[in-house]
Amino acid sequence: MKRTLHLLLVACALFSATLSVSAADVVTQDDRMEWWRDARFGLFIHWGLYAVPGGEWKGKDYGQECGEQGSEWIMAGAQIPRKEYAQLATQFNPIQFDAEDWVSLAKAAGMKYIVITSKHHDGFCLFDTEHTDYNVMDATPFKRDIIKELADECAKQDIRFGVYYSQYFDWYHRRHRLESDKPAMSEPDYLKMVQNHLGELLTNYGELAVLWFDMGFGSLKEANSQGAVVRELQPNTIICSRLYRRNFSEAQKKYADFESLPDMEIATHRVAGDAETCMTMRHNWGYDLDDDNWKSTKDVVERLVLSASRGVNFLLNVGPTPEGTFCPEEIDRMKAVGEWMKINGESIYGTKASPFDFDFPWGTMTQKETKLYLHVMKWNPEGIGFNGVMGKPAKAYLLADPEQRELSVRHDASGHITTIDVPGEAPDTNDTVIVLEFNATVEIAKTAKGRYHWSKSTGIKPRKKNRKKNRE
Ligand code: GLC
Repeated sequence: MKRTLHLLLVACALFSATLSVSAADVVTQDDRMEWWRDARFGLFIHWGLYAVPGGEWKGKDYGQECGEQGSEWIMAGAQIPRKEYAQLATQFNPIQFDAEDWVSLAKAAGMKYIVITSKHHDGFCLFDTEHTDYNVMDATPFKRDIIKELADECAKQDIRFGVYYSQYFDWYHRRHRLESDKPAMSEPDYLKMVQNHLGELLTNYGELAVLWFDMGFGSLKEANSQGAVVRELQPNTIICSRLYRRNFSEAQKKYADFESLPDMEIATHRVAGDAETCMTMRHNWGYDLDDDNWKSTKDVVERLVLSASRGVNFLLNVGPTPEGTFCPEEIDRMKAVGEWMKINGESIYGTKASPFDFDFPWGTMTQKETKLYLHVMKWNPEGIGFNGVMGKPAKAYLLADPEQRELSVRHDASGHITTIDVPGEAPDTNDTVIVLEFNATVEIAKTAKGRYHWSKSTGIKPRKKNRKKNRE
C-alpha cells in the first residue's frame, strides 16, 4: 500500500513538472552557449546612416581619431537636429551591397558568427518594421531589407547570424542629445516600440544567434522585460550582458548569457565564465573617411589569440562604406587572418583558456583535450621555454607542418622547465603555433609561477574633456 502511494506521488510530481515546463525552460544556458563557446571568433558590422558623412559634418571631423565621439556617434557629436540628420536617409543608397560577398568574406576570415547593427543609437532601422517609418524600406531610396538579405545569406552559407540593437539610446525616437529637439515619442510609446522591434527581429529573420543589446542604462525592469521577449520567442538566442548596466550584480543580470567586456578591451588575465571582446580594426566603429589608424594583421591575430588564451571570444568589427562595400583595408585583414586561421584554427576553435594564470615573454597558450597550443608571438631561436607543466609531452610539432615533424623537447635537471627546440627564424611572424601532445590531460604543477607579459591598450585617444558630459 505504502509502495503504491509512493508511486502515485512520484507520478503526480512528474505530471505537474511536465505541465510547468515551458519551451524556454527546456533550453539550458549550456545548450544555448555550446556553439558560441566553440566559435571563439565573429564579425561585428557597424552600418547605418552615419556611413554617409563618414565622420565629417560641415567641415569638421567628429571621428574618434580626433578625440571626438566617433563616426557612428556623429548625430550626438555634431549636435545635428533630428530632422536634418534624417535627411541622410535620402542619400543612403548602397547599391553595391551584396550579402553574399559579405558573408563569404566572414567565412574566409574563419569567423563563425556575424552581428550587425539593426538599430544603432541614431535610431535608424536597417530592417523592415511596421513600428516606425525611420527604416531602410520607408525612408531610403534603397528599399531593401538589409537584415533579411544577410539573415538569408547566413542561413545559406551556414554561419550564425545575430543583431546588435541599441535599446536605451535612440536619439531619433526617444531623446536627442540636442536639448532643443523635443522627443519624437513618449517614453511608454518608445518602450512599446522596442518590444515590437524585438518581436519583429525574432520572428521575421529565422534563427537569431545573438541579441547584442547595447548600453544598458535603463532600469532593471526595462532590461528584464526586453530580455524576457527574447527568451520567450527564441530560447536559443544568446543575450549580451549590455542589456544591463555594467555595475548590476551577476544575479541581477538574469537574461545575460555572456559578459561583453568594455569596447576593445583585451582581458588582462583569464576570465571565468563566458565573455566576449569587441574590437575595431581602426579607431571608429562606423565608416570614417580619414581614420587611418589601421591595426596590422599581426595586431589583429595577437588580439584574437590573447583573447582565446584568456577564455574570451573575439568580435572583430568592420564599418562598411555608404556604397555597401567593406573597405579594402578591412578585406585585406580579413583575408590575412583567414589564411592564418586556415592553418592554425585548431588552436582557437573549441579551445579553452591557457592552463596557467600567467603568460610568457614569448606568448601564451590555449588548450584542448590532451593538447597544449603554444602561441609564439615573439620568436626566440634559443628555444621556447616554460615551467609548470607536469610530465613530458609525447610529441611536439609546428601546427603549420602537415607532416608533424617532431621538435625536440628538453627538460632541465629539476624536470620543471621544458624547452622546445625551434628553427632559427619564426615560421609565422604573426604567431607560430607549436602543438604539444600529451598522453593524458595536462597537469600543472602547484608551484608554477609567472606573471602576465602581454597586454594591449585600446589604442584609442582619450575623449576631449568637454565631450565627456555627453556620455552617461
Ligand atoms: C559603444 C558605442 C558604440 C559602439 C559600441 C560597440 O558602446 O556607443 O558606438 O557601437 O560601443 O561595442
